[in-house]
Amino acid sequence: MSARSDFPADFAWGTATASYQVEGAAVEDGRTASIWDTFTRVPGAIADSNVGDVADDHYHLFRDDVRVMNQLGVNAYRFSVSWSRILPNGTGVVNRLGVEFYRALIRELIDNGIRPYVTLYHWDLPQVLEDAGGWLARETVDAFVEYTRVVVRELGDLVTDWITLNEPWCSAFLGYASGVHAPGKQLGTRAARAAHHLLLGHGRAVAAIRQEQPAATVGLTLNLYSVRPASDSAADLDAARRADGLQNRLFLEPVLAGAYPQDVLADLGESDWFDANPATDLDEIAVPIDFLGINYYSRHTARAGHARPAGTPSANPGSEFVEFIDTGAPRTQMGWEIHPDGLVDVLEQANAYRSDLPLYVTENGAAYEDVPDASGYVHDEGRRDYIEKHIDACAEAIRRGLPLNGYFIWSLMDNFEWAWGFSRRFGLAYVDYATQARTLKKSGRWLAEFLGTVSA
Ligand code: FCB
Repeated sequence: MSARSDFPADFAWGTATASYQVEGAAVEDGRTASIWDTFTRVPGAIADSNVGDVADDHYHLFRDDVRVMNQLGVNAYRFSVSWSRILPNGTGVVNRLGVEFYRALIRELIDNGIRPYVTLYHWDLPQVLEDAGGWLARETVDAFVEYTRVVVRELGDLVTDWITLNEPWCSAFLGYASGVHAPGKQLGTRAARAAHHLLLGHGRAVAAIRQEQPAATVGLTLNLYSVRPASDSAADLDAARRADGLQNRLFLEPVLAGAYPQDVLADLGESDWFDANPATDLDEIAVPIDFLGINYYSRHTARAGHARPAGTPSANPGSEFVEFIDTGAPRTQMGWEIHPDGLVDVLEQANAYRSDLPLYVTENGAAYEDVPDASGYVHDEGRRDYIEKHIDACAEAIRRGLPLNGYFIWSLMDNFEWAWGFSRRFGLAYVDYATQARTLKKSGRWLAEFLGTVSA
């Protein structure tokens, strides 16, 4: 078992959230609809038919939430900015009230010794931009850069740590291929084009942030999976290559090595489309970053399964036959297998591209069926154990010499879990959605103890 003293004194210990999942105030103070406001209203899209209109009402209760962070003893907070709160038309006029909300939140954080890490895009594209083509349209890249400049100009006197995108794999392949996330499109391998525009948006946003704020520290957050083959058969080795290719290398290689993995473009059948883009796109995508954020939850063990009928919506377009087997490892309520050593694997995989690149775990956490006792307390031993084991994996990564600078737990508090609505809870604090009361769970109390704010 590791201790806080196994980590550098300036290590970032944080929690993470995202705008649509916590803020609420969906139609207040000038905010307009994002693709999630639209998608949550599609019948059948959300498991419990809920919407994020109110969510955790963080827009009004953020001071309470900073108090929860103080109880936890964290020194960092990763959150995202709602694009349609800042630019209600997607581009153009700036909404002062939206800006003021984030300034008030950030001041509250700083006053409490908590460093803000700001994600510019955590999946909530303004609906008006989706209507104009969304991430399939190259123009969305320009809109993203404009939005980025506005945010950095408006918040840059208070914030220096920026994350351009959260998990572009999800935006592209859950949003435009499987369709389980907003905007709910099922376009097969064409979803890869959205990935390219997201990556180009990332690269240009990095350049724009540096122009606006030379002292900025800028990174990108990818959701990496440790991928293993189910057997040594050629078919399973190929399945693992494809899974790792779509999930990890399609994003790591252009950003960190300036080239797309050709095998993945061939699997997708999209080589011609990618080749037709200006060659300078890759130079822009590969602009040096200051850190890489990694969201890690699980490992995939891949095998070649049965072919699926052409056109079957899948998050692995072009490789629909790839399946992930059940290895028998314990799982969280999401069905995600628990493999703490997979966290070390993905840190090593990223580190192999640029050994000096600082790394952060920008998300890690677990959903469990939380049942408060009569006093409202949740004894979430499963989540506590999950977090402890992944902190141990971080300590192991540091022992191996990996430049790991921080660890952010998903999430500060229960919130709107996308297609699962409120039916999945990831919080260190339990949220009673009827009263909006926040109560630290056992996992939260354990973290506070680990971080040394309370004695054992
Ligand atoms: C990640 C998302 C985050 C949250 C966790 C459980 O993919 O970035 O918003 O939903 O999963």
